[in-house]
Amino acid sequence: MSESPAVHRLNGRVIAICIAAALGGFLFGFDTAVINGAVDALAGEAPSGFELGAALKGFAVSSALLGCAAGAWFAGAVANHFGRVPTMVLAAVLFFASAIGSGLAFGVVDFIVWRVVGGIGVGAASVIAPAYIAEVSPARVRGRLGSLQQLAIVTGIFVALLSDAMLANTAGGSANELWWGREAWRWMFMAEAVPAAVYGLMALRLPESPRYLVARGKIDKASQVLYDFTGEVNVNLRIEEIRATLQEEHLQVLSDLRGKRFGLKPIVWVGILLSVFQQFVGINVIFYYSTTLWRSVGFDESNALTITVITSVTNIVVTIVAILLVDKVGRRPMLMTGSIGMAVTLGMMAIAFSFATLVTNPDGTQTAELDAPWSIVALICANGFVVFFGVSWGPLVWVLLGEMFPNSIRAWALSVAAAAQWIANFFISTTFPAFAEIGLPFAYGFYAFFALLSFFFVLTKVPETKGRELEDMSDSPVVERRRRARPTS
Ligand code: GLC
Repeated sequence: MSESPAVHRLNGRVIAICIAAALGGFLFGFDTAVINGAVDALAGEAPSGFELGAALKGFAVSSALLGCAAGAWFAGAVANHFGRVPTMVLAAVLFFASAIGSGLAFGVVDFIVWRVVGGIGVGAASVIAPAYIAEVSPARVRGRLGSLQQLAIVTGIFVALLSDAMLANTAGGSANELWWGREAWRWMFMAEAVPAAVYGLMALRLPESPRYLVARGKIDKASQVLYDFTGEVNVNLRIEEIRATLQEEHLQVLSDLRGKRFGLKPIVWVGILLSVFQQFVGINVIFYYSTTLWRSVGFDESNALTITVITSVTNIVVTIVAILLVDKVGRRPMLMTGSIGMAVTLGMMAIAFSFATLVTNPDGTQTAELDAPWSIVALICANGFVVFFGVSWGPLVWVLLGEMFPNSIRAWALSVAAAAQWIANFFISTTFPAFAEIGLPFAYGFYAFFALLSFFFVLTKVPETKGRELEDMSDSPVVERRRRARPTS
């Protein structure tokens, strides 16, 4: 497809659209991380906390992830029915309500309800951002623009940790001290109302996705958006191709559902497995249980936050590297390099922790302590693991989920894959304490095994999508004929 010089000027607009859409990712990161700085205070003694036991405290943290799975599951249907933009506005409303509701909660029950409401918003944002970004981006920079979502997620994680620390400090050093009449931990949640409002207001100004407009028969509007925003040169040809893929694929989906045993197209299984592998390498264990890890390698609690911030910044920097590389190097080589790097670093961590000694803390819990040189090996490998993840599986799974499904099933397939990802996230983060009890070498060995497996999965099952048009993601024979007939530049 040839592009006029005007296209290059238009790209500024596309980037602005994608940044607005990716703000959903910022809230996704913020919402999942904000609980870190608040959980001990809200679980602590009354009247500033709710006096939660260990199980309820764990559930107060993880319940939001179940909301995420539900939000992801329904987002595809909502996006297909009402449109991509209304789905973003709905997610923003949920974030806003959850921020205020969790901050003003009377007790643990309504607190959990509000966290689940926010989780539904996170789940919906996790589906709609990649779908929308892929649908409005020109093919040659789609990987970069799709990676903005992950950049937004990791920035959200970073800002939440920072805002938690700043609020606790302002209130006098602890999350259960009062500031402006309320405990600091309450302000940590309420702070999210600000980006939620910005997201909602920006979403209201976004154009609807041309692929959705064609599906609803709004051809004139779709042509306008394609021309104005994505800088498409041959608008009529593109509209015709979108139509063809929608019709063809619709028939194929129906016949697949009827004919095959598991009722899902193979590409949907690829999406589900990409999601599951992204979580089964244990990335969120590093983020959610960071204090335990850093304590093991010799840092005390006061340093733990600094190290966590360093890890988040590392994650942001390597995501930028991924953005620069993705449309040049391609998805598959980056994923496979990431898999190998993660398998090696996690494997080394498993080995390092087999040299740990167990120390009993004053509260009866146990910490695995490492001495040099193994503590240094574990420290380097934990950060190395974040680097390998951040440059590959972190951003690229979201990019692929946005772009690799055919037009007609994109929103629906993304929903299924993202819901699987949240369930996998819930599984990995709730099982970590039990895994750690069996032994940290077992836990890290488990994640290393899945990292290794993910290499072979990409090698044999994941398609390369670099530079391909969304209309070419279909395996329908009609689409294939059109592809061959299309004039090339
Ligand atoms: C990806 C994952 C998410 C994780 C983040 C950390 O976005 O989907 O679960 O927290 O990366 O970088």
